[in-house]
Amino acid sequence: METALTRLVGVRYPIVQTGMGWVAGPRLVSAAANAGALGILASATMTVDQLRAAVREVRSRTEAPFGVNLRADAGDAAERARLIIDEGVRVASFALAPSRELIARLKDAGVVVIPSIGARRHAEKVAAWGADAVIVQGGEGGGHTGEVATTVLLPQVVDAVDIPVVAAGGFHDGRGLVAALAYGAAGIAMGTRFLLTSDSTVPDAVKAEYLKAGVRDVTVTTAVDGLPHRMLRSDLVASLERAGRTRALARAVRHAARFRRLSGLSWSGMVRDGLAMKHGKELSWSQVLLAANTPMLLKASMVEGRTDLGVMASGQVAGVIEDLPSCAELVGRVMAEARAVLVRLNAPDAPPPPG
Ligand SMILES: Cc1cc2nc3c(=O)[nH]c(=O)nc-3n(C[C@H](O)[C@H](O)[C@H](O)COP(=O)(O)O)c2cc1C
Repeated sequence: METALTRLVGVRYPIVQTGMGWVAGPRLVSAAANAGALGILASATMTVDQLRAAVREVRSRTEAPFGVNLRADAGDAAERARLIIDEGVRVASFALAPSRELIARLKDAGVVVIPSIGARRHAEKVAAWGADAVIVQGGEGGGHTGEVATTVLLPQVVDAVDIPVVAAGGFHDGRGLVAALAYGAAGIAMGTRFLLTSDSTVPDAVKAEYLKAGVRDVTVTTAVDGLPHRMLRSDLVASLERAGRTRALARAVRHAARFRRLSGLSWSGMVRDGLAMKHGKELSWSQVLLAANTPMLLKASMVEGRTDLGVMASGQVAGVIEDLPSCAELVGRVMAEARAVLVRLNAPDAPPPPG
């Protein structure tokens, strides 16, 4: 199935495995790439040296193109962009809108730039700045998320920009892929569905929590870092929501210190990142400080398997996912379902549309 996305990045199928902190490492990314999807490494939770090693590991496991996700507002974004260029990575994916200069530098070096956005005006901005495509995440998507549902946001963005649009938020099967194409998208991007594969390194006990969840067990809270964040409901989320501001800040300071050690950032680097985060947003310093909570609480679950101490970022779609296929099985299944749906829609004896 060829679309503007498969042509742009050179993958077999119009499916993206998105960058997820602590989850989208070399094993998941290379499995997704070998299955014919675009695998994207999450780099915000890696040091620059770890990112270089991860890129080389993916390269040793696959010849297929892949991408790296980075935070456009990170103090060392320019250094990470240079690494992407030097290592010949095909795609740069951004959690927030990158600057016009950063887009130009990457594109001049032949890197395909695909920011993730959650609002039409952001899509219009990055398209005007030269982004090659956008991933549009509707509110049902996992992790930091917006309020507008995919079914409303996607056609809005498709109508607003002339670059390929990849639909994210709530996708898990071939029906969803065909629906996204019908809206005018060039493919789908999935986070939660790829987290729940046998190739993902997330501990089994954590995967079991996702499989157990129903659609109403996925919630949006601002208690972790001050920004709307979609995740599984848990005792931890309830206690964060109950905790007063002072306790939340004390915990954030501890996490900021631990994250500084882990990420190899200096305090001045962290303050620079904080300033960049604040820039142009209505964030207080306490919210900026709380942001260090996210990587640490995500690591506790995604790496250490602590379902009691960690945050389990998740799309609503976790409520309808019940198995752990390999990436090859998943991509094969989605494509087979999509083809079957297209055949059914084209069949002369298909029932007429209602109404
Ligand atoms: C555990 C988890 C971690 C995530 N971490 C990141 C991240 O580091 N950077 C990013 O741009 N998006 C991140 N996201 C959002 C995903 O990349 C993706 O846009 C989202 O999961 C799509 O919605 P879906 O879960 O319904 O497929 C994360 C999502 C999850 C579930």
